[in-house]
Amino acid sequence: ALEHYKESVPGLHHVKSLPLIPVVKEDNIRNLQDMEIRDDDVLVAGYPKSGTHWLEEILSLLFGQQNGKKLRMHSIDFVPSLTTKENDDLLPMISNLPSPRVLATHLPYEYMPPGVKAGKCKTICIVRNPKDVAVSYFHYHKNTNALGLYDGSWEQFLEVFHKGEVVLGDWYEHVLSWWLHAKDSNIHFCCFEDMKKHPQKEIERLAAFLDKPVSEEITKGIAKATNFDKMRRTAKNNQGVCIFDQSIPKFMRKGKVGDWKNYFTVSQNEKFDKHHSNKIGDIGIHIPFEI
Ligand code: A3P
Repeated sequence: ALEHYKESVPGLHHVKSLPLIPVVKEDNIRNLQDMEIRDDDVLVAGYPKSGTHWLEEILSLLFGQQNGKKLRMHSIDFVPSLTTKENDDLLPMISNLPSPRVLATHLPYEYMPPGVKAGKCKTICIVRNPKDVAVSYFHYHKNTNALGLYDGSWEQFLEVFHKGEVVLGDWYEHVLSWWLHAKDSNIHFCCFEDMKKHPQKEIERLAAFLDKPVSEEITKGIAKATNFDKMRRTAKNNQGVCIFDQSIPKFMRKGKVGDWKNYFTVSQNEKFDKHHSNKIGDIGIHIPFEI
């Protein structure tokens, strides 16, 4: 029984076959189909641990440059906090927000409101190489009280990750669900690794996609303000953290590309590469495992 516990994540429940944390209710997911999307909404979509909060900070500053105040991102699948009333009234709360709204989702494409699929709003997809995601997600599952704290080893977690029996399901299915729409004009893809390598350039691309003319000085300033060490120091106000009851240092863990090398054995890496090429095939998505 103990082995079984380690080879699966305690506390996961399935909604329409998608593994989720217990606080996410079936209604939260189903009601998305009735959610009104506005032309000036911006949606951020990404598998967990791909740098969503980093992107959130960049967007807050990009928007803040225009209307003088910082925007908060609102999650349309996760409840923002266990301790607020938003728990039950998430969608009405989101529908009452003033424009422009910045919304975020960790769900696969098929769960999106019809307005998103129709390209009514702009969507930014963030992806990160799945080896670093797996390492980051290992720590997340070990530290997430809402899940009952995963107790397996790294080796065991890797198996669970391959099977897609982790929060929000299989990385490949998730990323491919969005990637199939990469050519849609209202969808912009960016990757964690490029953001690490040349943040300013990626911020410029984002600003262009969002039709927000910004000077070089501003993009430089945003890159500086959102670098890992700076954000780690100022992350205390980060709303997304409370649901997982993690301390900030655990949430803002390392922020590196290639940390997976400290975890994968040679044979785990070979197995992963094989799995990766089987799943990704020649679909044309390229995410660097190192920079
Ligand atoms: P690590 O666990 O590898 O450090 P998400 O916000 O989607 O949950 O992603 C969390 C991951 O992004 C964590 O990865 C976290 O440290 C990293 N991250 C957060 N802010 C970052 C930043 N400003 N620069 C680089 N990485 C960042």
